[in-house]
Amino acid sequence: MQAVYFEQHGGLDVLRYGSVPDPVLGPGEVLLRMKAAALNFNDIWARKGLPRVALPLPHISGTDGAGVIAALGPGTCGVSVGDEVLTYCVNSCRLCAACLAGEEVFCKQMRIWGFQTGPWDGSYAQYAKLQVQQVAPKPKHLSWVEAAATSTSLLSVWRMLVTRARVMAGETCLVWGASGGTGSFALQLLAALGAVPIAVTSSPAKALFCERMGARHVILTEQQDLHETVLGQVRALTQGRGVDVVFDHVGATVWPTSVECLRWGGRLVICGATEGFEANIDLRYLWNKQLSFLGSHIGTHREWIECLKMVEQGKIRPPVTQVFPLAELAKAQAAMERRDIMGKVAIDCA
Ligand SMILES: NC(=O)c1ccc[n+]([C@@H]2O[C@H](COP(=O)([O-])OP(=O)(O)OC[C@H]3O[C@@H](n4cnc5c(N)ncnc54)[C@H](OP(=O)(O)O)[C@@H]3O)[C@@H](O)[C@H]2O)c1
Ligand SMILES: [Zn+2]
Repeated sequence: MQAVYFEQHGGLDVLRYGSVPDPVLGPGEVLLRMKAAALNFNDIWARKGLPRVALPLPHISGTDGAGVIAALGPGTCGVSVGDEVLTYCVNSCRLCAACLAGEEVFCKQMRIWGFQTGPWDGSYAQYAKLQVQQVAPKPKHLSWVEAAATSTSLLSVWRMLVTRARVMAGETCLVWGASGGTGSFALQLLAALGAVPIAVTSSPAKALFCERMGARHVILTEQQDLHETVLGQVRALTQGRGVDVVFDHVGATVWPTSVECLRWGGRLVICGATEGFEANIDLRYLWNKQLSFLGSHIGTHREWIECLKMVEQGKIRPPVTQVFPLAELAKAQAAMERRDIMGKVAIDCA
């Protein structure tokens, strides 16, 4: 089959488009004829390599996809060849206490499909294999690229805001990196929950996009005046009180600002650190303001089904703004690395 893959970590030049071995199905697995895939920033981490994270090589990335079931492995039940499905990125043992309790994210064998699985595994290919538990019927009103873009970002956002931060109607939430995949789903979900999303973004075009995604207020920043601008506007928008919740995936560069922007008793929920893993904090804020810092990673099968219900009901729409053919995945990743994207970027695999 044709796929985009890399055999060593590095820059965009390590990506190859060419012929690779077809997936071989094991028990309980399904083969998908991929129709579409969608980008996530973990594709960039996978290609570049991360400290203390060993990824299988050769690597086909791609954590999100949608396609048609083409074959079933031994002992697979509940789906049929020809079913149109989208993917759930959590691969786990399905047998341990965590899995049986519906907490796959705490399974010792949990691996993110297309990131930690492999070799030759992931959605940037003509065919891909997954556990049967990792597929669900494609919502009929979505296009293939929208279906592919519905998975990992939305799932992660759901766990962050609903399960971890327990956002309530009327609460204010500061959303960093608001125009990207994770950020734009966060704006939509906050609006659907009746909360007040305050978006932080980096260009006037992105600010308009954030408004379309549901931002009640948008703070436009340049890197050099980020702290003063965001803190000043948050204070003005909240009558000096601070926000109830901060939604973060940017990390080190925004952490001190987040801590100051929170109201007393506020919650910060974080799933990533695009701009650095090592953050500084004056610990006095933590106890004096009685803050809660909440980590969040991917999401459970139950949370994924909850997300899909919101999508089925039309309360959330996957924000696909660009589609690239599979052979041009490197161009799509280049745009993501340049911070030159809005919403979700999808790949046509058909
Ligand atoms: N652990 C999890 O479960 C989980 C799940 C999803 C994502 N993540 C992490 O969350 C982060 C965002 O992922 P994503 O897929 O949403 O990425 P994305 O679609 O590229 O969005 C990231 C956004 O962050 C902002 N940003 C700030 N500094 C940036 C920089 N140096 N480079 C690029 N963008 C920057 C940009 O928005 P503005 O220009 O509007 O500021 C950008 O659009 C990544 O670190 C990813 O690994 C973690
Ligand atoms: Zn398990």
